[in-house]
Amino acid sequence: MSVKIGFVGAGGNARGHMGRLSEVESAEIVAICDVAEEAARSATEEFGGTAYTDHHEMLDKVQMDALYVSVPPFAHTDAELLAAEAGLHLFVEKPVVLDMDQGLEILEAIQSAGILSSVGYQLRLLDTVQRVKSYLADRTVAMISSHRWGGLPSQTWWRVMDQSGGQLHEQTTHQVDLMRYMTGHEIVEVVARYDLLTMDDVEGLTIPDSQAAMFTFDNGTVATVTTSPMMTQGGGKSDISLLLRDRIIAWSSSAVTISGEPAPELEGEPEERPNIDETFVAAIEADDQSMIPCSYEDGLRTADVTLAANESAKTGEPVKPRMA
Ligand SMILES: NC(=O)c1ccc[n+]([C@@H]2O[C@H](COP(=O)([O-])OP(=O)(O)OC[C@H]3O[C@@H](n4cnc5c(N)ncnc54)[C@H](O)[C@@H]3O)[C@@H](O)[C@H]2O)c1
Repeated sequence: MSVKIGFVGAGGNARGHMGRLSEVESAEIVAICDVAEEAARSATEEFGGTAYTDHHEMLDKVQMDALYVSVPPFAHTDAELLAAEAGLHLFVEKPVVLDMDQGLEILEAIQSAGILSSVGYQLRLLDTVQRVKSYLADRTVAMISSHRWGGLPSQTWWRVMDQSGGQLHEQTTHQVDLMRYMTGHEIVEVVARYDLLTMDDVEGLTIPDSQAAMFTFDNGTVATVTTSPMMTQGGGKSDISLLLRDRIIAWSSSAVTISGEPAPELEGEPEERPNIDETFVAAIEADDQSMIPCSYEDGLRTADVTLAANESAKTGEPVKPRMA
């Protein structure tokens, strides 16, 4: 029996999920909804299913087991609530919301429905991340430093603060999520400062181009993250460095390097692991939430941190994330 899957959102990221799902024998895409009719139609031509422009109609008419929601942060409406009510398992793209009240309402609906949930923090599945996580399980991280200095995505919504939440919330959420995941500790205080220093000539841009945040974890670890989309001609850097006694672990998606004392557990070529979509389908088949690397609750905690950073940058005050 196949796992029948519907989509809300058929943009670039959703199509990536569709492509990976089409390689999973037990998965079947049965319906795809996008407010842009052409996006929905062309996705169904390539990946199967029926095209819709209204998810209410799609959810009324099509029988399915799971729903992917892959829309820009501002565009989350009632799809997750309707899916939970109907008992459909949910895959929601990061960042899961732009508003914590909405996220907490969705979380309650997911928990009372008892459905499985997954959030698109696929970096958690990387072998390099898994190795760092298990290495840190019985060690103390004193400090963390992370950068995401990259380019400007083409989507117009991405440049609008009220639509994306800015780069830290929308994109650098991956680095924040990995800090929580690798250390196994929660962020309990956030201080952030933002500015728009060089990109005020970009039409329609209302996000800051310079964002710096400092996080304090529940065990005392202190982390800093800086992020900018200023490198519009290519280049940049994306990394996480963790300082332990006598050792620095420098993580990037393809490699882990260690300076100071050697750490043989972290050395060697990374292994290939199942991707996030195969993992989601397998978890549905096994009815096992523990197979999924990031639940909605866990993903909402990461969104909570970056939304707290946005509030701190606005008020100038330290902010405690609501779920901390
Ligand atoms: N996990 C990852 O690494 C990763 C990578 C890229 C994007 N994403 C996330 O995926 C989401 C979508 O990003 P994208 O790059 O595909 O954006 P996109 O702009 O390419 O596509 C978004 C699509 O959503 C559609 N849409 C908007 N509102 C809708 C609604 N109410 N109902 C149905 N469709 C609607 C748009 O018409 C568009 O086709 C974002 O949250 C983004 O952060 C995650």
